[in-house]
Amino acid sequence: MQQINIIDAKDHVNEKVKIGVWLTNKRSSGKIAFLQLRDGTEFFQGVVLKKNVDEAVFEMAKEIKQETSMWITGVIHEDARSKFGYEIEVETIEVVGESHDYPITPKEHGVDFLMDHRHLWLRSSRPHAIMTIRNEVIRATYQFFNDHGFTKIDAPILTGSAPEGTTDLFHTEYFDRDAYLSQSGQLYEEAGALAFDKVFSFGPTFRAEKSKTRRHLIEFWMIEPEMAFMHQEQSLEVQEQYIAFLVQNVIDHCAGALKTLDRDVETLKRYTQLPYPRISYDEAIDLLKENDFDVDWGFDFGSPEETFLADHFDQPVFVLNYPKAIKPFYMKPHPTRDDVVICADLLAPEGYGEIIGGSERATDYDYLYDQIVKAGLDPKDYEWYLDLRKYGSVPHSGFGLGLERALTWITGEDHVRETIPFPRLLNRIYP
Ligand code: 4AD
Ligand code: MG
Repeated sequence: MQQINIIDAKDHVNEKVKIGVWLTNKRSSGKIAFLQLRDGTEFFQGVVLKKNVDEAVFEMAKEIKQETSMWITGVIHEDARSKFGYEIEVETIEVVGESHDYPITPKEHGVDFLMDHRHLWLRSSRPHAIMTIRNEVIRATYQFFNDHGFTKIDAPILTGSAPEGTTDLFHTEYFDRDAYLSQSGQLYEEAGALAFDKVFSFGPTFRAEKSKTRRHLIEFWMIEPEMAFMHQEQSLEVQEQYIAFLVQNVIDHCAGALKTLDRDVETLKRYTQLPYPRISYDEAIDLLKENDFDVDWGFDFGSPEETFLADHFDQPVFVLNYPKAIKPFYMKPHPTRDDVVICADLLAPEGYGEIIGGSERATDYDYLYDQIVKAGLDPKDYEWYLDLRKYGSVPHSGFGLGLERALTWITGEDHVRETIPFPRLLNRIYP
């Protein structure tokens, strides 16, 4: 008898198989027991018919407790009424690990309770669906960048640089020196782009932000492509193609997960239509003012402004060329204005806000040196970065997609914490 995962049920219809499972729920009458099961790949039903099994098996089926692990054997049947489409008629049950008083019962629980039990909660169908989509987005990311000639260059986690400002750095000791946990791999990707033309990184990044919002994690994962000989306009095209590709792959490969989450597929399909609208920061300010927002030029958008802008277009929207004063030191200055830089944020609709931050990079040595000093950083720590402007500097652009922000939008969840297996939040580092 073959041991299978239930995800492959379609290849084993009417066959007798063995599966390792956990019990999620059950109900029974005098003649039949319905076992709600999961094997890690899917959620499905096992049916135990009293007349067809040993007395002991039927008794066991009635007594098993939630999250008991077991080997079952039985025959796979098609079952058009169930969401999954297949069920197993159970013949034998062998308990592997008992479970008593499983804390997450089928009733409703509060978020804090669930987060305290995240190590167990991951077994439930919603987190399972979200992590399935997370896995698909990561898979599609590697596919997209490999198909487009990018080389993955891993950036270090322990660094001496602060690309995104010094206020939210995680400090640590590095033997007898200071070091920080990476806020962004960007500066290293720039070195990579000048060595490999097109590169990307995917890794954890850290921000000691004292923000307690639906959009902020302390530890999050970022995808950071960087491209040599590339100006902003071309970079925006790469960005929108990448996002549309991610959404399309989730639609194509995660239908069951989207259904579990009640995510409307027609809405997602709209986000595969390109190009996405582009407006300048100046135009965004005008649009906000016309719609009674109390904003002045120079203001950094918060959640209400970003929500309004993306909803106005009903599509992800690029906001271009923000004021220099509210953006990091490395961005390329505008050719004719000294108050804005060549950058763009991509804002997701439905209230999700910024999912990508990107820019063309400053290429002039003296300008960049000056910006580093003005940002209060020590140019000595950035000598290597400045070298990139000394030896064959080229126009180059890049961007960072916050994986969990993108996932929150794609899955339609309310809070970014739902999209990472073990969230690190202002008040949470357990489990
Ligand atoms: O806009 P940010 O700060 O840009 C950078 O770090 C650039 N160095 C990226 C680059 O050009 N290579 O961050 C990029 C993205 C944001 O758009 C957002 O999606 C996500 O990272 N992000 C966060 N996600 C979760 N929690 C936080 N605290 C985040 N901060 C940024
Ligand atoms: Mg940003």
